[in-house]
Amino acid sequence: VSVVAVLTAAGSGSRLGHALPKALVPVRGEPLVVHAARRLLDARDARGPLVDTVVVTAPPEHLAAFGTALAALTVDPGRVRVVAGGATRQASVAAGLAALVPPAGSSGAGPSDTTSSDDDEAADVVLVHDAARPFVPPELVARVVAAVEAGHDAVVPGLPVTDTVKRVGAELAGAAPVVGTVERAQLRAVQTPQGFRLGLLRRAHDEAARHAHDESLAATDDAGLVERLGATVVVVPGDERAAKITTARDLRVAELLGDA
Ligand code: CTP
Ligand code: MG
Repeated sequence: VSVVAVLTAAGSGSRLGHALPKALVPVRGEPLVVHAARRLLDARDARGPLVDTVVVTAPPEHLAAFGTALAALTVDPGRVRVVAGGATRQASVAAGLAALVPPAGSSGAGPSDTTSSDDDEAADVVLVHDAARPFVPPELVARVVAAVEAGHDAVVPGLPVTDTVKRVGAELAGAAPVVGTVERAQLRAVQTPQGFRLGLLRRAHDEAARHAHDESLAATDDAGLVERLGATVVVVPGDERAAKITTARDLRVAELLGDA
């Protein structure tokens, strides 16, 4: 089975407020994107390394800096590739998918051939991971891959929610009325990497691109696009170490804790 990964790193990090694009911001001496890529490449099972290729989506004006930052990661330079991302996370994932060439020996057509069916790529698994989650344990990557290989078409890691969550109405003068309390036991906060049959994720993105004009249909993760196709998505246990860095405070926490 061939496993490829799209590592989304093309965001600016507006909420982090750093001069560098977020994925290039150093934590524990290395840029976020380097930590994240290394952890994807380090994932293994009993047969050996799991992830064949990592396609990194970078801000178009920073392609060279990303290439330099990632160059030292592998002895095989073809294992990590940098491509230009898009204006939204969804567009960046789509750009990463378009850059993935079917592996040698696959009967699949080229990446731009949208008529190719899922069967052409039936053996292929794709992971989508955010560089904003630099300390994802390689064991979590392996758990997601294993669940796809076990027959689940779409797999997301998730953690139980510890806060009580309430649905609210329109805010008035700084106060919003509570409409109801959501049953917490049923909730999961989902992380990345998310794993999919490659053909399924391609179809989900093709379909989403057709509705890109409709902001009410924007999804905040890839599984959300797959759910719209009616496919079943399953949740496997996530990991606190895969926490997302969004704010300057998150960065300070990551600097202190690393992958502890
Ligand atoms: N991302 C991307 N392309 C974009 C926007 C985001 O590849 N056009 C990536 C980010 O680099 C990040 C991941 O998607 O790894 C999750 O996005 P987020 O945490 O929101 O990062 P930013 O968009 O960079 O941050 P902000 O929203 O605060 O600007
Ligand atoms: Mg963002």
